Amino acid sequence: MPDATRDPTTIIIFGASGDLTQRKLIPALHSLNCEDALHPDTRIIGVARTEMDRQEFLESLYEGVENYARLKPGICELWDSFSERIHYMSGQYDDPETYRRIDAFQDELEHEGESAPNRLFYLAIPPLLYPEVIKQIGEGGLVRRENGWTRIIVEKPFGRDLESAQKLNEQIHAVFDESQVYRIDHYLGKVTVQNILFLRFGNAIFEPLWNRNYIDHVQITMAETVGVGHRGGYYDRAGVVRDMFQNHLLQLLTLTALEPPSVFTSKTLRDQKVQVLQAIRPLNPEDAVYGQYEGYRAERHVDEDSNTPTFIAIRAWIDNWRWQGVPFYLRSGKRLCFKTTEITLEFKSVPHRLFPGATGLPPNRLSIIIQPNESIHLRFETKRPGSGVDTEPVNMVFRYDEHFGDYSLPDAYERLLLDALQGDASLFSRSDEIELAWQLADPLTVDVEPHLYRQGGTGPDAVDVFVQADGRRWVPMDANHPHHFAEDDTSRPCREAS
Ligand code: BG6
Repeated sequence: MPDATRDPTTIIIFGASGDLTQRKLIPALHSLNCEDALHPDTRIIGVARTEMDRQEFLESLYEGVENYARLKPGICELWDSFSERIHYMSGQYDDPETYRRIDAFQDELEHEGESAPNRLFYLAIPPLLYPEVIKQIGEGGLVRRENGWTRIIVEKPFGRDLESAQKLNEQIHAVFDESQVYRIDHYLGKVTVQNILFLRFGNAIFEPLWNRNYIDHVQITMAETVGVGHRGGYYDRAGVVRDMFQNHLLQLLTLTALEPPSVFTSKTLRDQKVQVLQAIRPLNPEDAVYGQYEGYRAERHVDEDSNTPTFIAIRAWIDNWRWQGVPFYLRSGKRLCFKTTEITLEFKSVPHRLFPGATGLPPNRLSIIIQPNESIHLRFETKRPGSGVDTEPVNMVFRYDEHFGDYSLPDAYERLLLDALQGDASLFSRSDEIELAWQLADPLTVDVEPHLYRQGGTGPDAVDVFVQADGRRWVPMDANHPHHFAEDDTSRPCREAS
């Protein structure tokens, strides 16, 4: 685990009474503290509009740690000393007084502490409030220019289209330098997502095959069993394109497709990602199938005539030397039969059929299962025992939990908070990257009538037809599929993919 213990820092969380703070941020900081990854003088100031005292705040945070932390009380008994360093302040986000109090309180805390007054702001507030809070941080003089650093983490969604993202970048840049800005996409904090790069560039055997000469097509699936839950108000204005495609799906695509950087720095890595985004052929709704789960329109805070898609499948092309002619099929949806995020590279078929008995040899596949069941699978043909010449596809599997143990995968927020504390922006989106992603997503956010699909299935039928028209088929999203392990809940059968 990297070392963030060098810098005593005050982490100021705006939106401290919300879900993200309780379910993700504090549990992540708690686990980091348990592993001695934080400086002992790290302080956390939670800021929100809700009036509550410190005790109430700590009780709700403790509940979050008990339920969501990787290292829970019981495994790690440091809550008491950790919570002594957490404070709460209520105030209005548009009131300069709130920021004066934060500044004064932080000064006070610094005098108790040892050294450098570093500040990490975290915007865990509704995006509508970002401009106001950023402006107030600037006007209140809270950005330190000397004697310590100041950084800001901005949650997604970062804008809702290219224009608003550009505007938000301008508003941020009026107060912070780009080098101080950490735009989060929590997928980049997942070890299995980072491992795409290690698999590709830490091994000699894959990269020579990782191109149009050997790969027929790539599939990226992000399937969820959950619906929109209590987020109907947000989701109905966003839909799957803004919620999953513009950020998470495109991040997985760029990491799968990028060229090897010559050195591993945040600049070179992000430069390569930008190059992929620039090479993606402009997308339009004809390259996509939109779906909406049955019952979505009856969800709370969702318009009863809503056309907001909760599912999308897209065919994307990358116009460059490596990927010319290789389609990337991306799909993401809610209320499906399985939760899985996976990337599959399907190789081209053998050029010549040598074994007469072996009809229709299925192509080799390399599948990277991002979550759950974090693993890598290589499907290849094997001779069936006996005197015949027929073959059977078998799977070579690497499982994270088997190799590294159950608690080895830190939560994405642990990694990202640590990186921001250490000043490593590699796993955060740069302003140009965000804007290019919106440029690709914008044409897909048109109002089209989505195909309705049943809850607990694999999405609309039209999605199968979509790839069949190209002579291909989706990797089945199926309880008996080898990517899903024996202990999975198989009581929720999926419709068999055709
Ligand atoms: C969030 C989306 O960014 O990612 C949610 O807003 C989605 O709608 C979630 O459910 C999925 O993240 P994960 O880590 O559970 O796959």
